[in-house]
Amino acid sequence: MTRRIAFINEKGGVGKTTLAVNVAAFFAQKRNQRVLLVDLDTQGHAAKTLGVDVRAGGPTVFDLLTGDGVDPAQVTRATAVENLWLIPSWKEMAEFPTKAALDPDRAKLLARKLAGLDERYDYVVFDAPPSFGLVTTNVLLAAEEIVIPVATTYLALDGCAEMVATVERVSKEYGHAKLRVTQIVPTMYRKTQLADEIVEKLRQYFPKQVSEPMSLNVSIDEAQSHGKTIWEYAPWSRGATLLQQVAERIERAR
Ligand SMILES: Nc1ncnc2c1ncn2[C@@H]1O[C@H](COP(=O)(O)OP(=O)(O)O)[C@@H](O)[C@H]1O
Ligand SMILES: [Mg+2]
Repeated sequence: MTRRIAFINEKGGVGKTTLAVNVAAFFAQKRNQRVLLVDLDTQGHAAKTLGVDVRAGGPTVFDLLTGDGVDPAQVTRATAVENLWLIPSWKEMAEFPTKAALDPDRAKLLARKLAGLDERYDYVVFDAPPSFGLVTTNVLLAAEEIVIPVATTYLALDGCAEMVATVERVSKEYGHAKLRVTQIVPTMYRKTQLADEIVEKLRQYFPKQVSEPMSLNVSIDEAQSHGKTIWEYAPWSRGATLLQQVAERIERAR
């Protein structure tokens, strides 16, 4: 069975795309697994990080979700990473909620379109947009394992508890019993007393799910700016070690 893993947080800039891309590339490159990365954000950053040019046009996840009879193969692109494929996203995704508003099954469009991929992929990884709404509900219903990257800032604690509650609500409301939060990753971590208190609080609330904090590391930012995964750009960096620890935890979290 294909594992379906989504990176979710309604805040932007917390490391969703960085984790989604590098964890997907980890499974593809280091584990020789076949991986499909599905971007749902209007910014198209997953494509950028994988050296795929979405500005030049071509089909995106919007066409998959809104086109009658459009199937995943028609919108999937090869990436610079072997074994890793991408369904890119771009600005038109902003129109998806309006476009789908009258469809009674609008929350399940992504899940339905990606239902038949067990033969083709070992992992489907979702990079969610920084908001809660129809797109994120679609991601929650298409995924089973949820990873929440949480910036180690004071207000992030509240946000994290709300997101866990939302995942539980969607799971109940739609009868999606397999959906669960498997990992909470403290991100953008700098060793300060406040950051350590926040990590400690997260561990108290979610004793099983919280992973080691992801420190800030300049190689991670640089890799993204060069359109490369950390495994290509700086495989021996501290950033690569940190991302590998997260990827291995997710791998074991089944
Ligand atoms: N551990 C890290 N160290 C340094 N920079 C990071 C780290 N994680 C993410 N970044 C940088 O922070 C920015 C926001 O991260 P991103 O993954 O795009 O967040 P999101 O998808 O949640 O908006 C990016 O420029 C990324 O390169
Ligand atoms: Mg992002």
